[in-house]
Amino acid sequence: MGEDASATGAVGPPEAQPAASPAAGWTPGRFEGRTAVVTGAGSGIGRATAVRLAREGARVVAVELLADRLDALVAEHGDLDLVPVAADVTTTEGVDAVVAAAAGRVDALANVAGIMDGFLPPAEVDDATWDRVLAVNLTAPMRLCRAVLPGMVGAGAGAVVNVASEAALRGSAAGAAYTASKHGLVGLTKNIAVMHRAQGVRANAVAPGPVATGIDAPMRSAQAAGVVGPLLQAVLTAPAQAEDLAASICWLLSDDAANVNGVVLASDGGWSAV
Ligand SMILES: NC(=O)c1ccc[n+]([C@@H]2O[C@H](COP(=O)([O-])OP(=O)(O)OC[C@H]3O[C@@H](n4cnc5c(N)ncnc54)[C@H](O)[C@@H]3O)[C@@H](O)[C@H]2O)c1
Repeated sequence: MGEDASATGAVGPPEAQPAASPAAGWTPGRFEGRTAVVTGAGSGIGRATAVRLAREGARVVAVELLADRLDALVAEHGDLDLVPVAADVTTTEGVDAVVAAAAGRVDALANVAGIMDGFLPPAEVDDATWDRVLAVNLTAPMRLCRAVLPGMVGAGAGAVVNVASEAALRGSAAGAAYTASKHGLVGLTKNIAVMHRAQGVRANAVAPGPVATGIDAPMRSAQAAGVVGPLLQAVLTAPAQAEDLAASICWLLSDDAANVNGVVLASDGGWSAV
């Protein structure tokens, strides 16, 4: 379960998750001939995005820290053009492995890998949590963008989607590190959008609300439970399915969103409207 419905049970979803998503389909051929990179492809939103992109015709470089998750992905989808890369995206070697697997061409980059922060408030966050959350959620997407943008600029085309969070829109959805990382990711996204808008490259962010995935989201702070818990209970929407987010991400990566650049698309069932 996602950040907004804590795995501890301290903050629960208001309703049971829907059985199936109307966004579970795909658009045949939309990414035919294109190469896409998806991080966090072993689970949840990243996995659903990788599968959808591949079903829509892309060659997908599927990047994931945990090799067994990649093995399962490839075993389940042997019919799809998936190039598994077991790597930690926070490392130079990891970024290099992604670039090598892409073999000189990246048309679409989806930075999906992300981790939570235990909902630790600013007075409680430890350095290890801060550093790791910022490394995975913000620095790694920057480095991957930095690695692929020259190629996109050279080709005169390319699309980046960075997966942010409701915590990029407000201060009441997570702890200090996660909130700062996702706000920063939106800033990175907008900067790419401006810097490269005349070069055929688009960058957008998606801000999911609660999504039924395997993300580890304990609430490790009594203060957060007291302050953030009731706020979440008051406004949370029911958890979406990973396929719902994949639909939003793939739309932004596709030519259907050709005129959309630098936005934060809330894909949250309406939470941000509250
Ligand atoms: N699930 C939610 O409710 C929710 C809500 C808002 C935002 N998000 C964001 O959506 C994104 C995906 O979340 P999810 O719920 O699908 O999570 P998930 O845990 O199900 O999947 C994330 C995957 O990323 C991988 N990963 C983590 N660190 C990595 C690293 N350093 N290198 C490579 N891979 C790494 C994990 O092993 C995991 O397989 C994250 O950025 C998260 O912050 C999720």
